[in-house]
Parts: sequence; structure tokens; C-alpha cells
Amino acid sequence: MTSTLIKGGLVVTDAEETQADLLVQDGRIAALAARNSAAAAAFTADRTLDATGKYVIPGGVDAHTHMDFPFGGTFSSDDFETGTRAAAWGGTTTIVDFAVQTKGQALREGLDRWHAKADGRCAVDYGFHMILSDVGDGTLREMDTLVEEGVTSFKMFMAYPGVFYSDDGQILRAMQRTADNGGLTMMHAENGIAIDVLVEQALAAGRTDPRHHGEVRKALLEAEATHRAIQLARVAGAPLYVVHVSAAEAVEQLALARGKDLPVFGETCPQYLYLSTDNLAEPDFGGAKYVCSTPLRPREHQAALWRGLRTNDLQVVSTDHCPFCFTGQKELGRGDFSKIPNGMPGVEHRMDLLHQAVVDGHLTRRRWIDLACATPARMFGLHPRKGTLAPGADADVVVYDPHAEQTLSAATHHMNVDYSVYEGKRLTGRVETVLSRGETVLERGTYTGRAGHGRYVPRGTCQFLG
Ligand code: URP
Ligand code: ZN
Ligand code: ZN
Ligand code: ZN
Repeated sequence: MTSTLIKGGLVVTDAEETQADLLVQDGRIAALAARNSAAAAAFTADRTLDATGKYVIPGGVDAHTHMDFPFGGTFSSDDFETGTRAAAWGGTTTIVDFAVQTKGQALREGLDRWHAKADGRCAVDYGFHMILSDVGDGTLREMDTLVEEGVTSFKMFMAYPGVFYSDDGQILRAMQRTADNGGLTMMHAENGIAIDVLVEQALAAGRTDPRHHGEVRKALLEAEATHRAIQLARVAGAPLYVVHVSAAEAVEQLALARGKDLPVFGETCPQYLYLSTDNLAEPDFGGAKYVCSTPLRPREHQAALWRGLRTNDLQVVSTDHCPFCFTGQKELGRGDFSKIPNGMPGVEHRMDLLHQAVVDGHLTRRRWIDLACATPARMFGLHPRKGTLAPGADADVVVYDPHAEQTLSAATHHMNVDYSVYEGKRLTGRVETVLSRGETVLERGTYTGRAGHGRYVPRGTCQFLG
């Protein structure tokens, strides 16, 4: 295993920014030393990367992806090989993906299935959350075992009746279990029962276009479910992490709970910060590209999301990467928006889109790294091995050029999907070089990684709980 010296850059973590050189040995960060210090002068390595004028940042941690994910009669178009390669291109060196329990299935069976999908195929490291679709006594017992094994978070759905949906009783019971076993409940907070009534009414009235997906999945029904999830978590004495928050009214519920010092956390995604219902209204069924749940909202909601990221009422930005090709997949919903598979691509662009937020003045550099690396690592029990640059941590390191210009496009991205939701968007900043556990997986625009380098990472429990 070679050693690498990364010299001349501005090292940025969630905690500090320093002109420092960084020494990587045996896959780990061996040392950091201030520029031109005696300690830095003593660093020797097999090779040196010149990071002059660049940022040296931790590899991104994307805590919400769906590779090879079954939805609406099809599977997301990135598998673990193509999806983690795209992640590497974008400076993300750890993903936490969702293993699925289907109805009637043991958690173990679902988890084994996801291990088989990922094993030997990943370009970067990965962990798993578990989706619960059938909460009964067996599932509750198995949750304890999973926490001990390093699958420490469980997603439940208040949406999608008949598929992933759990009722309030099931949710409460699973939350009570996590109160005992240290797990973290992740909630898809939308009132799916009420939404399905509105879907039926819309379709009956001939409102079948993709934009109606946004209209029936009301912000108030996200806020109501968020509120309900928070109260259920309080009753259970359990912590709660609400995924893919998009509505201003839902952020308000999180802020109220956090104002009471409750262990309630929230995540949003770049699509909610940069896209809107205008995209869902694109002509010729083009809006289907933007169908995901929770849905894109009118632009007015974005200010509340940015504010939440600054005030820490939202703590994490992940992608909810769940791509479906327009041709043959999104098209399943022509003439009926409820049959459009839900989800959009994004794993490759999260670090860049959040850097753009630094350029635009929404976030500080340190907050960028906090939201994209450090806090997701702490939230899901991966810190300090992942999410930071400290001696002993895995050498997941990105050299980032803050001045490079790029234009996002399906013609140049690496995700296995036939469109980009950001087609033509210009960004300042670009990932230049990526190390994963000390191995170079991307070097100045050339991919040098390989399927099978990425390892499964068992996780600890949430590090924000006492
Ligand atoms: O539309 C989405 N978000 N698809 C992925 C599944 C989920 O609910 O996260
Ligand atoms: Zn969801
Ligand atoms: Zn998701
Ligand atoms: Zn530059």
C-alpha cells in the first residue's frame, strides 16, 4: 500500500479550515501538519499530490441512496456498481443504502438480498439502513440483532399504502423497540392514506399529468405526517430522523420539536433546494423526470429549507438517489401520473451542488462539509472513521478545485440514467482527485477505481444521542 502526501491545500472540515499538509499511510490519515511547519517538512511519502489553490476535504457521506431498488414494477437504473462509481466521480466515498424487507419477509432475508446485490461491486464503501414493511413480533425481535450487527437505522413509510406503508400502531411499536435497542427511526413523512384519496379524485377528473403528482402530495400532508411522527416518537421516548423534507411547513414542525430539545433530526436533498413544481410542469411528459416523493414544491419553500440548514433545524443533505430512465421507466406513467416510478438521480452531484451553495452565499464552507460529510457520519454511527480528516480516520479524501467551471449534463454524467435533472446547469467548483481508504479512485478527471474496492461498513448507533 502506497503512502501519499497531499500538499499545499486548504484543509476544510466541519470544525476548522487550515493551510495544512496531509499524510496518508496504509489507507488511513497518518498526520496533518501546518504548512511550512517542521512537522510538515518531515513528511515523506511515495507520491505527492499538489493541492495548491485547492480544498482538501473529507470524502462525502451520502446517507440516503437506492441502488437497484424495486419500485412501481421496475428497479432503479443504477446498480451498486454504476451507482457507487458515479458517487466516486462526485467525491462521495461512503453511501448508506436501503435494504428492503418485503411483506411477509424476515429482515434477515431482505438484508442478505441487499448484501448479495452490493458485495464485490462497489467502488466506494457502503453501509445499510433497513426498510421495514411488515412490523410484527418477528420483525421487532430481529431489529435488536440488526442493531448489534451494524444496521442501526430503520426506515418506515407513512406513505405508499399497500407497498411500504406502516400504520401508526406499527410505527409506535418499532419506535418503542428503538428506544430500547439504540436504533434510529427514519421516517418517510407523508399522509399516504389521504394522498391516495386525492390521487383517485385527480385521475377520475382527468388530471393525469406529472404536475398533478405535486398537487396531490400536499405540503400540509407532509407537515401533518411530520407532526404525527414526532408525537409518536415522543410517546415512545425514541429519536426520529425525518428523510427528504421538502415543505416549509414540515421544517416548522421540526423546528418546534427541536425547540423543545427533542431528539428529532431532519434531512433535505439538493433537488428540493434547486428544483420546483415548475419542473414538474415541463411539457411533453417531461415533468415525469422530476417525480419523486416527497414531491418538488413551489419555489417559495426553498428559503425555509436554506434557513433550516443554517439554523440546524435540518442537519443533513443527502440525495435520495433513486434514478429511473425516462425511456421505458418514467414512461410507465404516461396517462397516469401515479404509475410514474418515484425517484430521481443525484448521487454524483451533491458535493458540487452544495459547494455552489457556498459560492452563492447560502452556506459557509465548514457548513458544507458538516451537512455533506461530518453530520451524516455522526448521525449514522460512522464518525470519526468517515466524515472528517483526522489522524486514524479512513483516508477518504477529496481534492476540490473551487474555481473550476462545469456544466451538468446527461451527456457527461456517470450515473446510469438517460437524463439529468440539472441539464445545462453551470456550477463553480469541481472534484479533482478522490482517495478511498488511501487508494486513488479519481485523479484529475480520470477514473482509476474498481468494482469491489468498496467495503461494507457496519455502523455504530447515532452519535447525537446521550
Ligand atoms: O421518490 C423517492 N423518494 N423514491 C425513493 C423511495 C423513497 O421514498 O425514498
Ligand atoms: Zn421516502
Ligand atoms: Zn429514499
Ligand atoms: Zn482553480
